[in-house]
Amino acid sequence: MKITNICCIGAGYVGGPTMAIIAQKCPNIKVTVVDLNSERIANWNDENVNNIPIFEPGLAEVVKEARGRNLFFSTEVDKAIDEAQLIFISVNTPTKTYGTGKGMAADLKYIELCARQIARVSKTDKIVVEKSTLPVRTAEAIKNILDNTGNGVQFQILSNPEFLAEGTAVEDLLMPDRVLIGGDTTLEGQKAIQSLVDVYANWVSKDRILTTNVWSSELSKLVANAFLAQRVSSINSMSELCEKTGANISEVARAIGMDSRIGSKFLKASVGFGGSCFQKDILNLVYIAKSFGLNEVADYWEQVIIMNDHQKKRFSKKIVTTLYNTVADKKIAFLGWAFKKDTNDTRESAAIYIADDLINEHAKVAVFDPKVEHEQMIYDLDYLETRKSDLNKKYLSSFENPYSACENAHAIAILTEWDEFKNYDWEKIYNSMLKPAFVFDGRNLLDGEKLKQIGFQYLTIGS
Ligand code: UDX
Ligand code: UDX
Repeated sequence: MKITNICCIGAGYVGGPTMAIIAQKCPNIKVTVVDLNSERIANWNDENVNNIPIFEPGLAEVVKEARGRNLFFSTEVDKAIDEAQLIFISVNTPTKTYGTGKGMAADLKYIELCARQIARVSKTDKIVVEKSTLPVRTAEAIKNILDNTGNGVQFQILSNPEFLAEGTAVEDLLMPDRVLIGGDTTLEGQKAIQSLVDVYANWVSKDRILTTNVWSSELSKLVANAFLAQRVSSINSMSELCEKTGANISEVARAIGMDSRIGSKFLKASVGFGGSCFQKDILNLVYIAKSFGLNEVADYWEQVIIMNDHQKKRFSKKIVTTLYNTVADKKIAFLGWAFKKDTNDTRESAAIYIADDLINEHAKVAVFDPKVEHEQMIYDLDYLETRKSDLNKKYLSSFENPYSACENAHAIAILTEWDEFKNYDWEKIYNSMLKPAFVFDGRNLLDGEKLKQIGFQYLTIGS
């Protein structure tokens, strides 16, 4: 099938950027991104491209080029489904918060709603592509729904997981390490795979486009994220050992990373990984393993999460014990709230959990993040349901600039590795703080020697 019209359901961190790049690179394909959230769609359509709802370096320029030409954002879901030959499902699949699998399994209610809607609306044959990360064999469920509730048209289900990382989404989409497409082994399945290969082949070289069966593709996404998260937990576990032994985690990471079998990426010790994917996908993997009775496999991967929780907890504990075992009524400045630099995404950010711990100790948390709004911070804390929203609002304040956030603070905690933090006037910050002035660098970001010379008590992860 030659693709001339694509619909994507879900205008989030994955659907938005991915479709923008497809539209940019395939000017002959009409790409419509739909979402139930009309405010989000309105923001994608904002005349000023700098107001699009997702901050990603380079994305605004891509949207500017393609929007209105062959890239459209709309709330008319039925119409977009009806017109498209290829439909991406990019809705969110959060961890279940209720019922069987609560706290572990992926919640597939949005996926099922999409499948039912596609079945109801479609009058012509469609290729349905799972872009969202899903448990293995979800394609089977989608196919079942489509075939049993559809209007007799043919559906092919493909799995095409997205490997982009936030903050580098545009780069990752333009130059992916690989594009993975899983489909049925039947002739129709292979034809559907080819249609999607042809879309990507507009800018990705063929040797980087891998095709597999559906189950391998679905599982590979979970495994890739599990391996990446495992590396972070592995290095973080060693950071604690470094602190006890006098070794330095950055030196250790460098030494092992130069072994080409290990490789140097994803060896940065930190306050703990965040983001919408790592925890959710590992929990999902653990749940799947358990459901097949593979308890040793499940326990092995669960340890990655346990270590990450421990890393966050011990960071907040270190702040409290260092500040003479009490932070009550003390102003603790946070630099960074996003889960990593160059994104406004805060999902599962370590900062949320550190703030929650410190507020339990009645600290006054004062946050500056270059891209995150105050309302989002309060929303994130409220989501934990540790205390009433009024109390979160009382204990957490945010500032328009870093200098006000740090003024009169007892300590600063670096939670996100934003580059600009390195270039602040640290002497000015030091002079405005209470003494002794502490910096807890949860990202090993700053120049420790310089800070110590200024007079700071500078504490890092893993040394
Ligand atoms: C993605 C993937 O799809 C998810 O599986 C992966 O593990 C993480 O990244 P993401 O794009 O980050 O999700 O999610 P989000 O930014 O929440 O966007 C999802 C969008 O889908 C939202 O804008 C939501 O309004 C929309 N949606 C959800 C619908 O349009 N219809 C629905 O039925 C449900
Ligand atoms: C991840 C995967 O990298 C991506 O392929 C997948 O599609 C979605 O999930 P993302 O969550 O956007 O992407 O960011 P990533 O760069 O992987 O970082 C995840 C978390 O790990 C961040 O909190 C980051 O700060 C942390 N991290 C990463 C470390 O603490 N140390 C490292 O060395 C690398």
